[in-house]
Amino acid sequence: MSENDEFDVLIGEIEGKIQKDESEIYTERTREEAYNPKNVGELKEPSAVGRITGPCGDTVQIHLRIEGDIITDTKFITDGCGPSIACGSVVTELVKAKTVEEAEKLTEADFLAVLGDLPEENLHCPVLAINTLKAALDDYRNTHSFRNQSISE
Ligand code: FES
Repeated sequence: MSENDEFDVLIGEIEGKIQKDESEIYTERTREEAYNPKNVGELKEPSAVGRITGPCGDTVQIHLRIEGDIITDTKFITDGCGPSIACGSVVTELVKAKTVEEAEKLTEADFLAVLGDLPEENLHCPVLAINTLKAALDDYRNTHSFRNQSISE
């Protein structure tokens, strides 16, 4: 066996161990959303932007496109952990086609209903995602009411 083959075997063993460890910690849905997240990126000219850095130092950004009070499109990016990627993916899926008022009612329990349980040390990850969504919705409300004010003045 060449040195390159030995290295590939070693890498394969390490990857296998990481996947086994992850499967003992995270649900299948969390791993699926973390490795194949939906709606990653940024929107051109979003209606609202939320960007929050959590106490762990990770940042989540959410863009919303809102037309007639309905969230018609959304994207997220994060530099955070696997669960924060999974939560970003789930939040963008949960808010699509919802009204602003419906989106404001989402809680971390709605994430856990989709992802299943998260370990104690990752329970702040859905909180970060929800806070970022709320920041985006606040941005929309502030901009929207300012626009309405400007029009009526
Ligand atoms: S560890 Fe920071 S968001 Fe998950």
